[in-house]
Amino acid sequence: MKDSSKKKASLPAKSISKKSTAKLWAFKDFLSMKEISSQELSALFVLAEKMKKNPEVFYGKLKGHSLVMLFQKPSMRTRVSFEVGMQELGGCAVYMAPQEHPLGERESLKDIARVLCRYADAAVIRTYAHSEIEDFARNASIPVINGLSDSYHPCQTLADLFTIREKFRTLDKINIAYIGDGNNVLNSLLYGAAKVGANLSAALPKGYEPSEEILKDIKLITKETGSKINLSNNPFTAIKNAHAVYTDVWVSMGQEKQREQRLRDFQPFQVNSAILSKAPKDSIVMHCLPAHRGEEITDEVIESPRSAIFDQAENRLHTQKALIYYLMTAKR
Ligand code: CP
Ligand code: NVA
Repeated sequence: MKDSSKKKASLPAKSISKKSTAKLWAFKDFLSMKEISSQELSALFVLAEKMKKNPEVFYGKLKGHSLVMLFQKPSMRTRVSFEVGMQELGGCAVYMAPQEHPLGERESLKDIARVLCRYADAAVIRTYAHSEIEDFARNASIPVINGLSDSYHPCQTLADLFTIREKFRTLDKINIAYIGDGNNVLNSLLYGAAKVGANLSAALPKGYEPSEEILKDIKLITKETGSKINLSNNPFTAIKNAHAVYTDVWVSMGQEKQREQRLRDFQPFQVNSAILSKAPKDSIVMHCLPAHRGEEITDEVIESPRSAIFDQAENRLHTQKALIYYLMTAKR
């Protein structure tokens, strides 16, 4: 809840399902995909589906609520989907640009967090070091959402899994092949896949694997859910039984100095027609965007009928609306 001695008259959003909201959503912050349970993910997808189908039913549900968005890196999808999402729910979003609010320059991160809690009901933070988002969350009494850090991109994973569920009507035992960099997008997708019982086969160049700590964590989750996670250096093996073939950029924001080396290392991992011809014919292609056409993915593949990429981008809106609705209205 907003931290204020002068709170506005409370405007509780009319709950879509008060019972389930009360039982679930005990966690305050959404930082990595580690926080959310399998049950909470299912509930979120059900709500997002309703919001996508009949957005008008939810107009005004977050009237009087506000979201601050403190970004240290550029963004198109994350920024616009949160802003439009808040507006559709009757609340408002305030964007704080990197140039005007560089973390720790004008004032400390701790002070920023403590002040923003007095104005808003939740915050979305996009940073470089993940520890900054964790610090922010520790100092904020309002829910904090990771809008991308060097380590995780959990909002992307919500849209990714929702898109797969939409296409195949289930997530259970769905085979996801991830080809490319063991980066923030893969880290969150690993947690997501493991939690919903999907299998994930990642093909990555040597030296670009997720950390041992993450892999150990994932192993524990898969013991519970039965999901199978496999890492290799071979894209052809990874895509063999894939329902969804996923890739992301080879050079993430903040890695620009490594560009030349990375382009060399990732060359055999391009998602192109030759690789896709070895995947099942009805598999879909996914990319979180922005894409570097001609690097990690070809034009032909992005434009092919198998591409679910723009549905995936659209689903950022619906899944994040469900996320902010739950985080802002849950009783903790
Ligand atoms: N996929 C994604 O997060 O896009 P933006 O960087 O444009 O927000
Ligand atoms: N891995 C990419 C994702 C962009 C949405 C990056 O961090 O730049």
